[in-house]
Amino acid sequence: MRYVLPVIIMLLAVCCLRAQPATHGNNLIDVDGHVINAHGAGVLYYNGVYYLFGEIKKGATWFVPNQSWEDYRVPAGGISCYSSTDLSHWKYEGVALPAITGDATSDIDTGRVMERPKVVYNSLTKKFVMWLHIDKNDYSYAHAGVAVSDQPAGPYTYLGSVKPNGQDSRDMTLFKDDDGKAYLIHASEGNNTMQICLLTDDYLSPSATYSRVLVNRNREAPAMFKSRGRYFLITSACTGWSPNAATYAVADSPLGPWKEQGNPCTGPNAETTFNAQSTYVLPMDEKGSRFLFMADIWNKTDLPGSAYLWLPLQVDGDTVTIRWIDQ
Ligand code: GAL
Repeated sequence: MRYVLPVIIMLLAVCCLRAQPATHGNNLIDVDGHVINAHGAGVLYYNGVYYLFGEIKKGATWFVPNQSWEDYRVPAGGISCYSSTDLSHWKYEGVALPAITGDATSDIDTGRVMERPKVVYNSLTKKFVMWLHIDKNDYSYAHAGVAVSDQPAGPYTYLGSVKPNGQDSRDMTLFKDDDGKAYLIHASEGNNTMQICLLTDDYLSPSATYSRVLVNRNREAPAMFKSRGRYFLITSACTGWSPNAATYAVADSPLGPWKEQGNPCTGPNAETTFNAQSTYVLPMDEKGSRFLFMADIWNKTDLPGSAYLWLPLQVDGDTVTIRWIDQ
């Protein structure tokens, strides 16, 4: 009998110490107990380690008046990096690409927009290459910025920004194919069209090869992935920080043609992507059937309070399903 109480205490302690499953809408916590600050994120998987890159959102949220949409902003905080071997325990690696202060002409000044960073590894140059959305507070600049590093977690050196082939680039993502080719996928033409641009072999510039897809569909928040030789592109509609229904498209090649399908989400609030917006799809196995759908639960009037939604995504033939689960 005298052993019962210590055993119960031990069992309770073990239960408390076990990592708790993340609950959507609560912020993710890193191994030091700090809230993970990595919004509009992407993941690089390199040498058995997942590197999570995202927008650092801190400071007061303010409203930019006289815009055609609800333009809530925080200062550009730079890009953070976290690493993990199990997608559950995340170690803060530091600021991968800092924002600078006091130079309004710089792309990466805190007065600008630095959003949706994505990183790929270039095995020819042995460099890690980051692309991100660079803009002004009224989103009139519409550039894609590029930065480079010798190490996955950075620090990254900012190289500058472009309008790929003279075209607008707002919400964007990267996709690296099995043949080593990498693509910049970006909302363009005033967000009317998605453009998919083959990057040069060093991934540092857009090539002249690009296609216009989802024409006049007004999509953003692109996330591309590949399953069993087929390509999939999830996007959101354009409603600023407010959630809307995701849709997906399927193709035989990254440049298209793309065939639009419906909403991949099922369950409560499927018509608002479970109150979130797509940012990345991470492959979880070699077979190409299990993926992690990563999205942002934006809090538009308190942007640093925005949270994350990570759900399993399944592919069956040409059908993509993201089913709601509580944790
Ligand atoms: C969203 C976009 C976000 C951010 C926001 C600004 O539509 O997906 O990344 O740019 O607009 O209002």
